[in-house]
Amino acid sequence: MHRQQIVILGTGGTIAGRAESISDNIGYTAAQLGVAELLAAIPALAQAGTVLTEQVAQIDSKDMSFAVWAKLAARVSHYLGQPGVQGIVITHGTDTLEETAFFLQTLLAPAKPVVLTCAMRPATALVPDGPQNLLDAVAVARHAGAHGVVAVCAGVIHGAVDVQKAHTYRLDPFSSGDAGPIGYVEEGAVRLLRNWPEPQAGYVQKAIKNIAKLAGPADLPRVEIVMNHAGVSGAIVQALRAQGVQGLVVAGTGNGSLHQELEAALLEAQAAGIKVVRASRCLNGRVLPTPADQIPDSEGLSPVKARVKLILQLLA
Ligand code: SIN
Repeated sequence: MHRQQIVILGTGGTIAGRAESISDNIGYTAAQLGVAELLAAIPALAQAGTVLTEQVAQIDSKDMSFAVWAKLAARVSHYLGQPGVQGIVITHGTDTLEETAFFLQTLLAPAKPVVLTCAMRPATALVPDGPQNLLDAVAVARHAGAHGVVAVCAGVIHGAVDVQKAHTYRLDPFSSGDAGPIGYVEEGAVRLLRNWPEPQAGYVQKAIKNIAKLAGPADLPRVEIVMNHAGVSGAIVQALRAQGVQGLVVAGTGNGSLHQELEAALLEAQAAGIKVVRASRCLNGRVLPTPADQIPDSEGLSPVKARVKLILQLLA
């Protein structure tokens, strides 16, 4: 393998999407073009001869599954282990990109850069954003000292733990909330604002071993997200308990506050051995715990990331 190779793994998304008309930025079908075609659209990259592509999946990321994550993690691990590989870029849909980024960072904590990138407009758009994002992602993967899982979109580098999709339409849809971005990509150069992601958790090695022992994704611990809102009751918690749920993340209001009926149902579930974690439905900030809290907080994680972490903890 060529020294300082960059591997681009394709998983689908809008970056690989196709629409009937060049003026249609929303009525497209995601995951139509192969990752090799995405690379071919950027001659400067394609001709460099140091970029390898592999199609790992071809999906709209709203349909992301644990099975695809397991395959992706295996391919990322494989390439990370090759001395000639400098870094990995993953093309991905924006909708669940933050979950995949957090999953890979928690599971692998890579010492090399793993850069997820995406697009808000399909490849057929009059002015597609995917090619520039892909070029920027490769620049980050090539940056000396870069490591860990990050997302690159619209010239902004976000860490896996903080990144969240915060806008439905804009070309710069991601936010790192209070933490702020890791840096920017400007004309191919990386301008760092803070450190690259660091390893997350000690429980993960056990989780990895146990994932390998599972017969299939259906054997994963079932963890669901419930939300606090006006007029909520405990009925959803009871229904999930009846189905054998093993973990619950609650997206509380504000500082993780819960309607008294939902809280009562969650405390009953907790007493019955179900793991319950309290996050916030707010986009910014984190749940600040108090000594009186009976349900543990998500330690700053959003509900979807707290769910990924709880699945891995239950596996461990
Ligand atoms: C997807 O998440 O696969 C579709 C939406 C997008 O990439 O922006």
